[in-house]
Amino acid sequence: MQQRLGLERPILQGQVNFPLCLAPMVGLTHVALRLVVRGYLPKNAHTIWPTEMLNSRRLPNEVLSKTPETMRAAHESGLVPQILGNEEKAIGDSVKKLIHEWGAEGIDINMGCPVQKALKHNYGVALMGDADYAARVVEMTVKNSTVPVSVKLRAAPQPGALKDSGDRDFAYLEKFANGLQDAGASWICLHPRTAAQKRRGFADWSQIKSLREVIALPIVGNGDVQTADDAVSMLNETGCDMVMAGRALAARPWMLWQFGEKLGFASPEGREDQRAPQGPLQEGAEYGRCLLKLIDYCGQYFGEELALRKIRFYIRTTSVWLDYGQSLIGVSTKAKDLTELRERAAQFFENPIEMAASTELRQ
Ligand SMILES: Cc1cc2nc3c(=O)[nH]c(=O)nc-3n(C[C@H](O)[C@H](O)[C@H](O)COP(=O)(O)O)c2cc1C
Repeated sequence: MQQRLGLERPILQGQVNFPLCLAPMVGLTHVALRLVVRGYLPKNAHTIWPTEMLNSRRLPNEVLSKTPETMRAAHESGLVPQILGNEEKAIGDSVKKLIHEWGAEGIDINMGCPVQKALKHNYGVALMGDADYAARVVEMTVKNSTVPVSVKLRAAPQPGALKDSGDRDFAYLEKFANGLQDAGASWICLHPRTAAQKRRGFADWSQIKSLREVIALPIVGNGDVQTADDAVSMLNETGCDMVMAGRALAARPWMLWQFGEKLGFASPEGREDQRAPQGPLQEGAEYGRCLLKLIDYCGQYFGEELALRKIRFYIRTTSVWLDYGQSLIGVSTKAKDLTELRERAAQFFENPIEMAASTELRQ
């Protein structure tokens, strides 16, 4: 029997029945990682899937099937690509292209990216400093879209965005989110760390709870979710409709399976008679299997050089949960090509390697 948790308010017009999804991450949430993670989605579970953030100034001139960030597999459903932008023409052209040429089922707008380049161009988290313009960006997107539009936010407001305002001015976040709702957003994702915190320190879940209470739209909560238990806690403690996990779900894609077990979903297709990996040793071994699969998919989609870069980045970001994670990073930087990397990675996991449930996240 499936336990009803989250999704009190429907996401993607009710097509989503599984309240856990992968977060958009530059350099990580490409087709290869999405396929590895999707392999652990319980049978008959439907969730949403991100891309990396895509610059709306560049998208109109790109060949989506050949650009690494927009490569996709034919069977991928529930894709909600994330765009970065603030100009109507670029957004309109990008959104139409993503929907009609590429098959986007929703469009997400990035209002959380804190890097200098985004601030300079007045997009990403810079939009959180201007509630009216941010609402206009949603309007422009909705006007050009035949699919739902969501927005991903940070804790409000970013330092310096408002005069006389502290880092955690919830009244501002409420007003800001209301503006997005009025402009036609279909759901809001909140990563309650300030821009200054980047991805360190604690995510303030109380802001997710408060936003859920004052906004009628579905709320997706993000931040500090490292395990399936954390995902359940976030749903229970904040009342959010869905949980989004980034680094930890990239590192332990089977978190989808573990979480599905807690909610009474079936095992993933092809694993019908198995239980999700549990405990440091089983999880460490599963990490090794995922890594080999990721290497194969990266080779298939990206070619040697780019694949190597992407895998090294994946290992740097996700090995923090592993015993001897530093050695694995060493293995990946020393390998000259994909074949060597695959062989060395396989050897590395011939010994039992433990994976911790949680760790301090620094990247
Ligand atoms: C390497 C990396 C790249 C990221 N790129 C994006 C991005 O393109 N768009 C976005 O909205 N957030 C991005 N984020 C933030 C994540 O989506 C997420 O909000 C953040 O990592 C907190 O969630 P987590 O603790 O579950 O990882 C990125 C995070 C990481 C680690």
